[in-house]
Amino acid sequence: MGWMEAAIRRRGGSVDFRTFMELALYDADHGYYARGPVRYGRKGDYLTAPTASDWYTAVLARLFEGLAARAGAPLRVVDAASGDGSFLAGLLAAWDDRNEAVEMISVERSAALRRIQEERLPPGRVRTVTGPRGIGPWDGLTVFHASELYDALPVHRVVGRDGGLAELWVEAGEGGLRWAERPAPEPLVRHFESRGVRLEEGQVAEACLEAGPLHRSLLAACGAPAAAFVLDYGYPARRLYDPRGRRGGSLACYAGHRMDRDPLDRPGGKDITAHVDWDTLREATRAAGWVEVALVPLAEFLVRGGIAALVEARGLGLEREVDAASWTARQEIKRLLDPDGMGSDLRVLVQATPDAAPLVSEALGLRTG
Ligand SMILES: C[S@@+](CC[C@H](N)C(=O)[O-])C[C@H]1O[C@@H](n2cnc3c(N)ncnc32)[C@H](O)[C@@H]1O
Repeated sequence: MGWMEAAIRRRGGSVDFRTFMELALYDADHGYYARGPVRYGRKGDYLTAPTASDWYTAVLARLFEGLAARAGAPLRVVDAASGDGSFLAGLLAAWDDRNEAVEMISVERSAALRRIQEERLPPGRVRTVTGPRGIGPWDGLTVFHASELYDALPVHRVVGRDGGLAELWVEAGEGGLRWAERPAPEPLVRHFESRGVRLEEGQVAEACLEAGPLHRSLLAACGAPAAAFVLDYGYPARRLYDPRGRRGGSLACYAGHRMDRDPLDRPGGKDITAHVDWDTLREATRAAGWVEVALVPLAEFLVRGGIAALVEARGLGLEREVDAASWTARQEIKRLLDPDGMGSDLRVLVQATPDAAPLVSEALGLRTG
């Protein structure tokens, strides 16, 4: 019997899909993110923007420095879901430790990944915490960054049935793991009703009930003035739950840079992810007293953040002859800006406390008011 079947039997023989996904990703012994070594990145199962290219982090380093200069305040960076520490290591490299005064906080749930960060990052330079409560107060500007945090949270799965909703459960039976359906509980029914979404018969969808409360408490923990940059795959609710686009839901699994749609196969052996409902994060923003500055595709964000100026500053503009370094840089930038890939599939939700919103808009060349 596999570890997941045993874990489900210990819980009475069946669990809702949210519990299954929580175990598959975060079980202390077998979970995808709980075990070392790092499973994603160039040599792993899938790429994220910080692991795809240093250019992503270099643009954010420039933007963060510019924001602190505009605010005339000391800078604190909070990287939530910091994973293997790629983003924080990239910031330190981009700043070449010119920015020693910057306070850096890493928020990471996985103990295995926290250990990897400890080995990778200069000792004592980054304070590592496990959740919003560890962030603490700061007398200056806080920039919050989260790349693919919210699409890595466990989700409930539901299916449209008889004009209502059934929740998908996972049973550990004689022949292994199999799907089951139960009436959906009230919080899930409310999640869809409050967004004006009615699923078609047989339409499958996911709902993350913890994304909103987590986002709200992370923003609140940043204090003010503060700005947030949330990078993720997702859509506003109406589009996310539109049966014409995603009748089977958005849940996907990744292993060896290949995608499949069967989370019950090899639990713990591959990543499981579901698109973010941007409306949920937007509600949390309002509830935290923050405002939305923009929700833009990654490519537009990087252009607004000054990627072209950075390319010029590094002498890698079009006048530079093609050599190994300029070729690699161009390939990496192309990947980040790709209109058929990361550049448009990934979006950046930019949010700020009301006192910081004008300077964030200005820094990104967005109109204010
Ligand atoms: C898809 S990885 C992204 C890693 C990194 N941000 C990147 O983009 O390369 C998701 C990360 O979120 C972490 N995570 C999930 N839930 C979390 C939570 N509630 N608080 C902090 N980290 C969390 C996981 O442990 C994992 O490291």
